[in-house]
Amino acid sequence: MLVFKAIMKRRSIRRYKQMPVALSVLKKLVDAARLAPSAGNFQPIEYILLNKKSVVNQIFEHLRWAVYLKGKGTPSKDQRPVAIIVILINKKRAKFPFYTQVDMGAAIENILLAATEKGLGSCWFGSIDRPKIARDLSVPKSHSVEYVVALGYPDEKSVVFPMKKTHKYHKDEKNVIHVPKRTLKSILHLNKY
Ligand SMILES: Cc1cc2nc3c(=O)[nH]c(=O)nc-3n(C[C@H](O)[C@H](O)[C@H](O)COP(=O)(O)O)c2cc1C
Repeated sequence: MLVFKAIMKRRSIRRYKQMPVALSVLKKLVDAARLAPSAGNFQPIEYILLNKKSVVNQIFEHLRWAVYLKGKGTPSKDQRPVAIIVILINKKRAKFPFYTQVDMGAAIENILLAATEKGLGSCWFGSIDRPKIARDLSVPKSHSVEYVVALGYPDEKSVVFPMKKTHKYHKDEKNVIHVPKRTLKSILHLNKY
């Protein structure tokens, strides 16, 4: 799949078919993240890959799903993620806090795009219970839990539409998610503002 096509196709998907994802595919996603640009090339990011159902379900409890869907965002038991990637920072390698965040943005987007190419649905989580995730996964004090990416073969649809009044996404009667995006015209300034 061409990169541009993957960018256009990728949407946050929060319901998944209960089909396993091959470990080799999941490892490829982390490999894609590993090769992302890194400020000063310090490469402070590390990853915990979860594909064991009991562990995935344990971490599932620490994620906050689709806040604008008010209860309709959290997947039922038979649509939960089948794999999770937990994004960690190795504090010794994190020389510039601001750039560490930027590095994670680049690395996580690589994961999401590679997942799209592999036919997977994904969702990036920032609203997570970091202390509980660190405790459950025995993350050492030298590392911090930063983000989570939930993964699985998609079991819902999401589409974009030109944003008008609200930035809040919603679901229609067929459970399709509609995500407002600012138009190219409204954000692009050519040669001067
Ligand atoms: C830094 C970051 C944190 C996010 N945290 C959450 C989250 O905690 N829970 C959730 O359901 N979605 C989360 N999302 C997904 C956004 O809601 C989603 O990207 C946005 O609604 C746009 O939809 P799209 O990804 O389909 O383009 C997060 C996205 C980003 C970039």
